[in-house]
Amino acid sequence: MPEKKEKFYLTTPIYYTNGLPHIGHTYTTVVADVIRRYKRMRGYDVVMTTGTDEHGVNVERAAKKAGVPESEYVAKMADAWRALWDELGIPADEFVRTTDINHVRTVQWLFKLCRENGYVYKGHYTGQYCIYDNAFVNDAKPGDNCPDCGRPLETVTEENYFFKLSSFQKPLLDFYKKNPDFIQPDTRRNEIISFVEGGLKDLSITRTTIRWGIPVPGEEPHVFYVWFDALTAYLSAVGGPEYEKRGYWPADLHLVGKDIIRFHTVYWPAFLMAAMLPVPKQVWAHGWFLMDAAKMSKSKGNVVLPRPIVNMLGMDALRYFLLRDVVFGQDGNFSYDALVTRYNSDLANGLGNLASRVLTMIQNFFDGKVPSPSKAGAGVAYSTLGSSMTAVKGLLTEGAWDEAGKPTTKGYYDSLKFAAALQEIWQFISMVDNYLTQEKPWELAKDPSKRDHLAEVLYEAAEALRSISVLAHPVIPNATQILWGKLGLPGDVGKQQMDELNWGGLRGGEQIKATPALFPRVDHQEAIERIESMANEELNPPKAAPAPAVSAPVATGASAAAAAAPAVSEKIGIEDFTKVEMRVGQIKTAERIVGADKLLKLTVDIGTEIRQICAGIAQYYEPESLIGRKVAVVVNLAPRKLRGVESNGMIVAASVGPEGRPVLTGFHEEVEVGARLK
Ligand code: MSP
Repeated sequence: MPEKKEKFYLTTPIYYTNGLPHIGHTYTTVVADVIRRYKRMRGYDVVMTTGTDEHGVNVERAAKKAGVPESEYVAKMADAWRALWDELGIPADEFVRTTDINHVRTVQWLFKLCRENGYVYKGHYTGQYCIYDNAFVNDAKPGDNCPDCGRPLETVTEENYFFKLSSFQKPLLDFYKKNPDFIQPDTRRNEIISFVEGGLKDLSITRTTIRWGIPVPGEEPHVFYVWFDALTAYLSAVGGPEYEKRGYWPADLHLVGKDIIRFHTVYWPAFLMAAMLPVPKQVWAHGWFLMDAAKMSKSKGNVVLPRPIVNMLGMDALRYFLLRDVVFGQDGNFSYDALVTRYNSDLANGLGNLASRVLTMIQNFFDGKVPSPSKAGAGVAYSTLGSSMTAVKGLLTEGAWDEAGKPTTKGYYDSLKFAAALQEIWQFISMVDNYLTQEKPWELAKDPSKRDHLAEVLYEAAEALRSISVLAHPVIPNATQILWGKLGLPGDVGKQQMDELNWGGLRGGEQIKATPALFPRVDHQEAIERIESMANEELNPPKAAPAPAVSAPVATGASAAAAAAPAVSEKIGIEDFTKVEMRVGQIKTAERIVGADKLLKLTVDIGTEIRQICAGIAQYYEPESLIGRKVAVVVNLAPRKLRGVESNGMIVAASVGPEGRPVLTGFHEEVEVGARLK
């Protein structure tokens, strides 16, 4: 590891604020987070930037429609983006907003440098402009539609400042030649080279038709064109004009979708060259996640949202799927079917099942203490699993070598071959599975004379789990941290250095912890239905919900056990009370719901029928303890879905203490099922 940590700066695009993140945006940010975690585990001092692109005509329109000033509109949207990244566990180290004062200063400074160096002039421009993509479309005729989004173009003429992009044809081509890794993957590189070889037109970088933008100092009403503004955010996030003080510029890696590669590999380096500033080291363009072969977009109504998936399967499942199912760089189709299949096969059955097999055997055969490695020590040194693990680690972090010892490829993580990296780790998982099947520790356990051998086998398996926690951590950080803790290991697995991962690191004697399954298996169809139903609720939120009829005691159906209910202040007439139909119900079955820690799914006999009701009591009542219990049920509530599960009624409970612990009602005398409460 370097003495003073080497710096690594990477970015996602800064996202438009006229919508909220879908799976496409989540994909780029997840990839950035995986690289960030990986680089930290290789000893780098990493900064990851994401943020919001808040200027332009779309924002003007959206704010007008919402009836609020632009500044208020974008502040709300930026908060929502930031909050979602936080919720998903992929927060930025630097969250940059293009309305930040530091950013405004940086854009004006960059313009000044370009102008002083003779690369800016004033002119007129008439062209066909797509207001949705914020771009003039070269070669389009009036009346054409945008080739990217298909929506009508507008003819725009205005006085602009122009950037002399045409002067950069040769410098750019030279730059690409000298830095063959600048544009990745190679197919994109070739595309861009032919585009630049075809000649570059000067670029308009200001507007007078837009009000909501960064002013060009002394040249009002000119405001900066969206790409001159947006791209500069990468630099403002790490110090702007004072970038040298922080030491993160030039960026090591800009991650972008293929839709915006040209802006990043032609305009952006040209702006920086014109200002005589350092140019980023690499731009990596990934493909799109498609829905039914079309790019996801709000206007097409085919967006997939991250939150419902995370609620149902967990964030690690989403991360794993995004990186495992599609080769990074290519397009891929998104389908819930493929997602849930991967979840059950690779996570629940693969890693989850291996972990629970090994931990259960250590629990049962060694009182929960990891057995010590073979007394002679030879077993560990020559372990087959150990050498496989070392090989996997090498492929992930170093790459392949030819016979002369020269590297032929970079490590899978370093070259962003995530699918290949995961394939290697999962092959190792099945190797450990096969090892157990072969050694049959459950048979060894029956023969006291084979105790040493049994210890060896379970030690090896536990050591494999420890290695997997380290190697897979960048992609599935939550599950690997839990697994790390289950193995009795202290601290944060993300603080481990991959270079220092060597077979035999478990000492033996660690006290393992039995905690719930890492990835509980889900019913395929039910999982899809629940994800879809949650997505539907998020995309079409119900109009203002009616106030709950019952406030004290608290009802635990529709809203999971609310905090202690405030005293009822407003008086209601008896006719209001009689609208609420409450009956005695008897609980027939009760079970936990995967993806909803607080809810139990109950079936309740209410005399006339058996109802399915969800209750927010899972943290306080064991499901088995509820069977046969009689409770008060509100039976005439409109059915609704909670975490995607249908709930038809509400169980009544008192809300006790400051945390609002739900206590179910009871009856001191025998009451008939179905009897009405009045
Ligand atoms: N604001 C500009 C970028 C400025 S960067 C200086 C922009 N924003 S965006 O909100 O449209 O986000 C674009 C990025 O989101 C894409 O480059 C890509 O990284 C990601 N994706 C959006 N939809 C996507 C898919 N359907 N699939 C994969 N990623 C996509 O463009």
